Amino acid sequence: SVLKNATLLLLSRTIVRGHALLGDPAARLLGMSPTRDPYPDYESVRERGPVVKSKMGLYLTASHELCDSLLRDPGFGQLAAGELSPIDSVAHIGPRRLVNPVEDSFLMLNPPDHTRLRRLVSPWFTPRGLRDQVATVERVVEEYLDEVAGRPTFDLVGDFAARVPIQVIADLLGVPDADHAAFARWGSALVNALDGVRDLKELRALHNGLREFEEFLDGLIDHRRRHPGDDVVSRLVANEDLRREDLIATTELLLVAGFETTVNLIGNAVLAVLAHPEVRERLLDDPGCAEAVVEETLRLDPPVQYTVRTPFETTEVAGTSVPRGTPIMLLLAGANRDPAVFADPHRFRPGRPDGREHLAFSAGIHYCLGANLARMEGAAALRGLFRRFPDLRAAGRVRRRPSRVIRGPERFPVSTGAAE
Ligand code: HEM
Repeated sequence: SVLKNATLLLLSRTIVRGHALLGDPAARLLGMSPTRDPYPDYESVRERGPVVKSKMGLYLTASHELCDSLLRDPGFGQLAAGELSPIDSVAHIGPRRLVNPVEDSFLMLNPPDHTRLRRLVSPWFTPRGLRDQVATVERVVEEYLDEVAGRPTFDLVGDFAARVPIQVIADLLGVPDADHAAFARWGSALVNALDGVRDLKELRALHNGLREFEEFLDGLIDHRRRHPGDDVVSRLVANEDLRREDLIATTELLLVAGFETTVNLIGNAVLAVLAHPEVRERLLDDPGCAEAVVEETLRLDPPVQYTVRTPFETTEVAGTSVPRGTPIMLLLAGANRDPAVFADPHRFRPGRPDGREHLAFSAGIHYCLGANLARMEGAAALRGLFRRFPDLRAAGRVRRRPSRVIRGPERFPVSTGAAE
């Protein structure tokens, strides 16, 4: 079954690539080099109409109005990708089916299960629930900046951006300090797998990661049963109605959804600030504008580029009939540059009056649970970074993450200005 799934995945990639070469807009987005600039593709989808049916049979939209309304429409929901999802294929390997942090979690569930599970963890993510986290985030930012302060150059992603969110989520979940590195590794491996795997070796590595992660969480759950704290896992463990699978999937989702997304937000925000000297000046004069810089980064270059919704029944969408069970790709990053909503949409303009309309955190019932946390972490990271290194500049080639879903730098060498 591993071989069959690997073959299916590789075959689907070849088919997608073939369609891409024939000019299919969906295939161009899915099949071409994931590191190239996707924004012209979103524009060309929007130019073809509110809903585009690709030759491969996929439906796409880059219209803000349509993305927003479909995300809020109870007639549309989540559909598990099943066999073609690499995480799902590996979850089935071995004597016991492993929990799939994406497809078994409330991210991919519909009401009423979605509502029940989301409600259990939402109190931690309200502004009130996050009050205590503000000081932790600021302390963590300063600690990591202390570590790089003596060096003329460092990797903005590996040495800084990737470390802040992992510390915060691990604290929320009650993961001991000693396990943070492994925790970060599992988080990255799972997010990278969202784009598919290239060969059997990657499939095996994904399986091992998933298994180790689940074993680790079983141990953590056991520990918290005996020694409860005031963390999310302890609270979930105390809920006797919750199945083990739901507990594990929820915990895994919080790591997967909250880690790389925030890393890329910080990376994309710093890229934008370095490219706009006037924004750097404003940020140095008034660190309070970090929130506006984060918001505009979310609009112009969002870490999550698209999501998918599926109609429960055959439905007319902007004049196109979409058959029941057929996925529509909602190009959130394209909607965020829709000129019907955003004036001069390709321009980076923190504080723009229409800025808050963006869909970087989705909309409707799956609206990002961690939006407040992500905004707070992003702003604290930017404020801390430019206060400490007002002359921060790029110091080498930026390597982009090889992903179409998640966008941002994977390696970003910067110079602190200390050696100049
Ligand atoms: C859902 C983006 C950070 C937890 C989502 C969705 C998006 C998103 C687009 C909805 C997907 C859909 O509608 O299909 C982002 C971005 C982030 C970020 C861009 C950072 C810049 C976080 C953080 C956490 C988090 C820090 C928590 C630690 C979640 C959860 C869901 C979610 C639990 C599922 C919500 C549901 O299904 O009801 N996020 N996210 N996210 N996010 Fe985030």
